[in-house]
Amino acid sequence: MHFPSMRWLLVTCVGAIIGTTTATILEVDVVFPRNETYAPNFWFPIVFAFQNAKSAELLNFYITFDIWNWHKNLGESYGYSHELKWANWSSHEPYFEYRFVDHLMREGHWRLQWTVSWQSCNEIAPPGNLGQKMIENDTTWYVNFATNNSAPAVDLVAATANKTTCARELGHAINVTDRTMDSDLSANWARRWTCAVVASSTPTPTPDPCRVTIDSANAASMTASWNAKLCKGLNPPPDCPKKRSASQQLRVVGTSCVLAASGALGFLLL
Ligand SMILES: *[C@@H]1O[C@H](CO)[C@@H](O)[C@H](O)[C@H]1NC(C)=O
Ligand SMILES: *[C@@H]1O[C@H](CO)[C@@H](O)[C@H](O)[C@H]1NC(C)=O
Ligand SMILES: *[C@@H]1O[C@H](CO)[C@@H](O)[C@H](O)[C@H]1NC(C)=O
Ligand SMILES: *[C@@H]1O[C@H](CO)[C@@H](O)[C@H](O)[C@H]1NC(C)=O
Ligand SMILES: *[C@@H]1O[C@H](CO)[C@@H](O)[C@H](O)[C@H]1NC(C)=O
Ligand SMILES: *[C@@H]1O[C@H](CO)[C@@H](O)[C@H](O)[C@H]1NC(C)=O
Repeated sequence: MHFPSMRWLLVTCVGAIIGTTTATILEVDVVFPRNETYAPNFWFPIVFAFQNAKSAELLNFYITFDIWNWHKNLGESYGYSHELKWANWSSHEPYFEYRFVDHLMREGHWRLQWTVSWQSCNEIAPPGNLGQKMIENDTTWYVNFATNNSAPAVDLVAATANKTTCARELGHAINVTDRTMDSDLSANWARRWTCAVVASSTPTPTPDPCRVTIDSANAASMTASWNAKLCKGLNPPPDCPKKRSASQQLRVVGTSCVLAASGALGFLLL
């Protein structure tokens, strides 16, 4: 019975060869805020960046973050979560995931603390036990920043152009191979048949969040899409474009019903 071990050896070798030739360093960074003081802003941006974003596609990323007023009141905190398992990773490089929050419109000392979670294939799971063929991993870190009326206004372009204010701690590098394996739908957060193999490289690759800059076009597009979202919401700000015609509105309602129905279906499948 020497065949199975020979075959296993062959698979391992082929895997190693493929792994070495096609590994990509994916990096998740917090690019704003930095450890700095800014003027309070009604909508204050929190920006994550994914470098080599295409390799994030099968990793089912999920981000949660909290912002708390650590100076004054330990009980005051705000939590957010971002589901990225279906993100369009090829839409932009680097890929920016951002949120504008509305409680940093006054002075304070804040802490942004985040957890980024992802899934990859478990290569050493016993064969036939698909349910175990996923590894869950996460990284948690924080940055302190302040808002003060005498500080400069929030400026994403200027902040990310400054290479002295980004700390290595704000980035996390993941060595993703091009190799994929079968995954069990029930173990896969995105209910996909496929997972990606992450190389267990030691030492872990060094992240470089300083590489990421937000140019004025990126910044404008973030603001524009945020405004568009607000205008579609329940309490649109006064400067939104004119209301749509009745027939157009009907179409929008129809679309949201379909979305709601598919959302309900997704829920039932959970
Ligand atoms: C990434 O993983 C591949 C495959 O295991 C390895 O050859 C390569 O050295 C790793 N890269 C880094 C920067 O650790
Ligand atoms: C993802 O983004 C790219 C570039 O913007 C676009 O061409 C493509 O159609 C998008 N894919 C999906 C599935 O939306
Ligand atoms: C931020 O900067 C202050 C002083 O400028 C420092 O005390 C603090 O430890 C820094 N670190 C973090 C994580 O924000
Ligand atoms: C804001 O900055 C000014 C000047 O640097 C300082 O005196 C003041 O204490 C700061 N306010 C807060 C709330 O930290
Ligand atoms: C970068 O940030 C540091 C610390 O806040 C500041 O002292 C420096 O002037 C900034 N550099 C530029 C080019 O804005
Ligand atoms: C989690 O990811 C880090 C680097 O991204 C890696 O060093 C570590 O081995 C991973 N943990 C597991 C359980 O795969």
